[in-house]
Amino acid sequence: MSITTIESPFTEAETEKEAERLLARLMHVECDSRKSWNIDTCREVAPLTLEINQLKKEKDAVILAHSYVEPEIIYGVADYSGDSYMLSLKAKEANAKRIVFSGVVFMAETAKILSPQAEVVVPDSNSGCSLADSLTGEKLRELKAAYPEAGVVCYINSTAEVKAECDVCVTSSNVYKIVAAMPQKQILFVPDRLMADNIRVEMKRLGIDKEIVSSDGTCIVHDQFDPNLIAESRENFPGLKVVSHPECTMEITGKSDYVGSTGGMMKYVKETEAPYFMMLTECGLVERIEVESPEKRFISGCKLCPFMKMNSLEKIRDVLIAPRPDQVIELEETLRQKAARSIDRMFEMS
Ligand code: 13P
Ligand code: SF4
Repeated sequence: MSITTIESPFTEAETEKEAERLLARLMHVECDSRKSWNIDTCREVAPLTLEINQLKKEKDAVILAHSYVEPEIIYGVADYSGDSYMLSLKAKEANAKRIVFSGVVFMAETAKILSPQAEVVVPDSNSGCSLADSLTGEKLRELKAAYPEAGVVCYINSTAEVKAECDVCVTSSNVYKIVAAMPQKQILFVPDRLMADNIRVEMKRLGIDKEIVSSDGTCIVHDQFDPNLIAESRENFPGLKVVSHPECTMEITGKSDYVGSTGGMMKYVKETEAPYFMMLTECGLVERIEVESPEKRFISGCKLCPFMKMNSLEKIRDVLIAPRPDQVIELEETLRQKAARSIDRMFEMS
């Protein structure tokens, strides 16, 4: 564990109480092979979580954390944690002077689009996303020119420039509903090619006549799962339920018992009786369920997102004290307003 020990302004009793608060949650984390949580490791991070929680008050800041970030962030300092849809709603409602977005840069950009009055900062400005980084606004304008009749739908995992070019933005929690409700038959869905495949399958299943065209992005985490693992695991673990995200390939989603957003997957596992679950998504979500429903049993299968894992308590503390210019999200106002229209349309349609 790489926590720098600094002189703590908190008393021993305060630190011990905080370590016990953390341990009550983090002791359930089993999936995380990078750290093992016990009272000593909780004592190491307690001064930092105390400092961050104090800084939040002093700086009038809220911390929004995606479910994929480290559990000490989610259970130690986050005010809200959840999926992209839930966090975009929280960003819209946030009444704070500052928003620290512990996730990836496109999520912080979305928060800035929805809460322009707030200073929105990211703990690490290199926390990109292979989907968001796969498509520029210029490339999307070329695609729109090639498909002039198409309704343009963009996944929230996209840049503000791309969102500004779309008719409507979607997240994994409302994508099928919104695509189904679009008036156009032809839909240009960007930037996730695998999610576009899943939309095609779902529209066919629903008997809705849509032609889905896409760009060529994929999530470097969700495009990695091997469908053979599902068959093998079902043989070895009778009663197993397989859960996946719509960023996975059709071969994976077609063999899954449940496919949905990170929020949807979490709800499904919590509400479903099964001896074992295999989660074909980022490991942070497994850790969240281990903490919140410790009776659930998981078999291995999840993978790590290198971008989400760039977040740390130390970086959150530092960005709260004094953000560097690269950590502050800035958007040109006309672009922001155009991007906000596609997100507002999502809120109306979901
Ligand atoms: P959710 O919208 O389901 O939270 O997913 C975001 C994401 O980046 C998944 O890889
Ligand atoms: Fe992007 Fe995939 Fe990481 Fe989600 S898991 S932030 S889609 S790279």
